[in-house]
Amino acid sequence: MESKLTKKPTATISVNNKQLELPVYGGSVGPDVIDIRKLYAETNVFTYDPGFTSTASCESQITYIDGDEGTLLYRGYPIDQLADKSTFIESCYLLLHGELPNKTQLDKFTRDITYHTMLHAQFDRFFEGFRRDAHPMAIMVGTVGALAAFYHDSTDINDPKQRLIASHRLIAKMPTIAARAFKYSVGQPFVSPRNELDYASNFLRMCFAVPAEEYKVNPVLARAMDVFFILHADHEQNASTSTVRLAGSSGANPFACISSGIACLWGPAHGGANEAALNMLEEIGTVDKIPEFIAKVKDPNSEVRLMGFGHRVYKNYDPRAKAMQKLCHLVLKEVGAEDNPILKVAMELEKIALSDEYFVKRKLYPNIDFYSGITLRAMGFPTSMFTVLFAVARTVGWIAQWTEMMEDASQKIGRPRQIYTGAPKRDYADVSQRG
Ligand code: CMC
Repeated sequence: MESKLTKKPTATISVNNKQLELPVYGGSVGPDVIDIRKLYAETNVFTYDPGFTSTASCESQITYIDGDEGTLLYRGYPIDQLADKSTFIESCYLLLHGELPNKTQLDKFTRDITYHTMLHAQFDRFFEGFRRDAHPMAIMVGTVGALAAFYHDSTDINDPKQRLIASHRLIAKMPTIAARAFKYSVGQPFVSPRNELDYASNFLRMCFAVPAEEYKVNPVLARAMDVFFILHADHEQNASTSTVRLAGSSGANPFACISSGIACLWGPAHGGANEAALNMLEEIGTVDKIPEFIAKVKDPNSEVRLMGFGHRVYKNYDPRAKAMQKLCHLVLKEVGAEDNPILKVAMELEKIALSDEYFVKRKLYPNIDFYSGITLRAMGFPTSMFTVLFAVARTVGWIAQWTEMMEDASQKIGRPRQIYTGAPKRDYADVSQRG
């Protein structure tokens, strides 16, 4: 990646009786950054930023978020335009290569992805090793990392061609693995991919077709699945992407790195929130129970949070949540579940929260997970699959960010420091002498 940082007037920091001039860089949009790489060597202090609330960990040209405006851009294109007009496979090309493909490029890319949808026959044995009640995310973490054991010809991270093949393999095989994780949990035979189908239709078929009858893809649900994938495809340096980059910074192979991203995504504060949000809506159950629940959320002595609300970066309506809400209504109408009581709870909860001082003051708006659970449930997925679907979509973001990092000449192994507050140096005492 060619650096596009622009030089800005320097910043001066005064610390330990020393004044230090630090370079400041600007990007194409968004806040400038102060380059503190020399700070420790020159002043003997570290910066302290748990949770990285003020720290840019890298230069990136893939995705941009303006949290105050509620804007999300993939390579400059607004997410709502992509959700309305693009396809997931086209968005994958965009994220990976930086530009929308022309027809020839799109056809070739589509072929490259469909060509890799099958899994090595031996790979299916992995699934048998899991308990039937295993969480599909546990299966994903285990099996995706194991891809490195099968595809030795795409683990040389220093070869750009191998890196590209690894990214095609990951995007192509993730739906096949995810569908198998689902089929295994419901005790149904695995369904092989059909390469004449588009990405989302193929995935739905692998999840829901059974050998006993013909499976017809519902085009409305297939489009909804595709848009779900577009909306979740990338989100700049979030926790799982940063995990992928950190794992990759040591030189680990791409399959191992994506597996680490899946593990991080699983947490309820990240990708697991869609599962948690639906569980919460079901627990509330009816509109009349909302005030009681809101009171619990606002109680400073309770740990209860309104799942699907709030975001580290968005201090405005998450633009993906708007698109997801639209999708939710579309899917519920298609499956004849417009009167779904959970949807009523969600809409009422959203209305109350958006006018309640607690949420307004803290700028807590619905995030993408608020409506995605209801949508996925209506499409036939159990809650345990929600985060898996997020992982299928986010794979392209992870691998695009990993590739960008590998092409960045300034990339180093990620190695944060700490402020140590433990015991200072002391001498070992024999057990007989300890009190
Ligand atoms: N419900 C109630 N209060 C909340 C919530 C919430 N969902 N989120 C934040 N707050 C309060 C929090 O208690 C704190 O209040 P106070 O200042 O009185 O202590 C204040 O808002 C700031 O919270 P924070 O925890 O410092 O904010 P954060 O930026 O560290 O957390 C978050 C971001 C997404 C982890 C958090 O908002 C959250 O836990 N939300 C629920 C889980 C969720 O929906 N996650 C999905 C995120 S979007 C998809 C993805 O990226 O994976």
